[in-house]
Amino acid sequence: MAVEIRNTTPYPDQKPGTSGLRKKVKVFLQENYLENFVQSVFDTVEAADGATLVVGGDGRYFNRQAIQIILRMAAANGVGRVLVGQGGLLSTPAASCVIRKHKALGGFVLSASHNPGGPDEDFGIKFNVANGGPAPESFTDRVYQRSRVIDAYRILSAPDLDIDTLGRSHIGDTEVEVIDPVADYAELMEHLFDFGLICSGFRSGALTLRFDAMHAVTGPYAKRILEETLSAAPGSVVNAVPLEDFGGGHPDPNLVHAHELAAVMYSGRPPTLGAASDGDGDRNMIMGANCFVTPSDSLAILAANAHLVPGYKDGLRGVARSMPTGRAVDRVAAAMGIECYETPTGWKFFGNLLDARRITLCGEESFGTGSDHVREKDGLWAVLFWLNLVALHKQSVAAIVADHWRRFGRDYYSRHDYEGIEVPVAEGIMGRLQDLLAELPGRAFGDYRVTLADDFRYVDPVDGSVSEHQGIRIGFDNSSRIVFRLSGTGTEGATLRVYMERYERDPNRHDLPTQEALADLIAIAEELCQVKKRTGTAQPSVIT
Ligand code: G6P
Ligand code: ZN
Repeated sequence: MAVEIRNTTPYPDQKPGTSGLRKKVKVFLQENYLENFVQSVFDTVEAADGATLVVGGDGRYFNRQAIQIILRMAAANGVGRVLVGQGGLLSTPAASCVIRKHKALGGFVLSASHNPGGPDEDFGIKFNVANGGPAPESFTDRVYQRSRVIDAYRILSAPDLDIDTLGRSHIGDTEVEVIDPVADYAELMEHLFDFGLICSGFRSGALTLRFDAMHAVTGPYAKRILEETLSAAPGSVVNAVPLEDFGGGHPDPNLVHAHELAAVMYSGRPPTLGAASDGDGDRNMIMGANCFVTPSDSLAILAANAHLVPGYKDGLRGVARSMPTGRAVDRVAAAMGIECYETPTGWKFFGNLLDARRITLCGEESFGTGSDHVREKDGLWAVLFWLNLVALHKQSVAAIVADHWRRFGRDYYSRHDYEGIEVPVAEGIMGRLQDLLAELPGRAFGDYRVTLADDFRYVDPVDGSVSEHQGIRIGFDNSSRIVFRLSGTGTEGATLRVYMERYERDPNRHDLPTQEALADLIAIAEELCQVKKRTGTAQPSVIT
């Protein structure tokens, strides 16, 4: 097998976004498109020679073909050993786990997360570094620079490798090991949670579950861990076979896209816990019988109870949440006397805090929760954490949530999204808010007096790097808050996200419908940003 050096011409659009390079499949099918990007990564990585590389993805359309190309290029670029998930599968948190455990130099994670899959949909590739987390911007910038001038790539001419049979083989001088994609991850989960307790809960029937894998990568993980290891009743895991097009669905765990699950949880006889994860397994949605747990509350509740779970029995070093995430976790941190960091939106901002051991748990309003066990958010981890808590407290999810509110107060929280706004209009909205910042402090809107108005700026406490313009924060004297920011992940036009929260200490007022509890803030938000007026839309496109 000979190494070929093939000529190529650069593409101008290979700048990785927050979560790697995400494009329509058709874009990836252009001649050498994937090859250019992969070679740009190899050209940027130092010391690939003889090192271990991890490869796997969420099973979407083009996953298998991409893996064959990456294997041949890895061999041609001197990689010593490649660990590839059987069938080409590795969830994002499992890839992070495998990279860390096997001391790999990094790994390629093939996914476009919660975006739909199929020939006309999305594909994505992301490089994670040795700590198991997404490559930092300094790295992805260098990859992009390289991709703009690349003129050749290295590849081995070799037939496709069998990636469905476990075991070792060779491609050129490179050893390829097809690994069980679940094993390392399952072993890590077993160390963190009380599997014995959860298992007896399932066996006695005290605990019941519906986990919706949404035809995406968590199916095999959930089947093995929840049903086979923990004895959840067969059929507790639904939509468990990963499909290249996710069954035509949108593998995003929220009340809109996981509506099948929501219907069951609000039906006559719901299970104790309902949960779902996204395409690549890093997001989570948690529900109880007739109850939806907001991601912001979930983070706070996990933090308040962490010391009861084996993996966190020594307590938490600190916690972090992204800026627009509700502040319920701040109250827990204050009560525990630990630090709570407020970071910009995007999981990568937690990486330094985790590596520097300043935090143990972190989360975002966008259905992401995780800890220092890997360097990605982790959907199934959150589900196991909740199962452990439900089994331990012998209470319903709703009762655990209500108890938490009684203890700390409730932060009513909602996000209103306005999608598909023309970019100049969206910029106009943000510009107007910027202009208002100076005059807002002290101004009253009915009973709400502004105490803080700023454009969020983050100084990373570990490396001092600065991120500007991360969203407009408006705080009020009654502990309410409105945040405005433009989505960084949209594909068409701009999406304005408006996040509102109001703190309620009085337990007699913890059962209001959320939109009602936030009605004043919803009106103030419109008065400030005028999105309805400027776009002529009466209602947000999505309310979560
Ligand atoms: C991705 C990232 C998350 C982030 C989310 C925000 O899912 O992995 O860390 O919270 O995007 O997206 P947005 O559209 O609000 O910028
Ligand atoms: Zn994801």
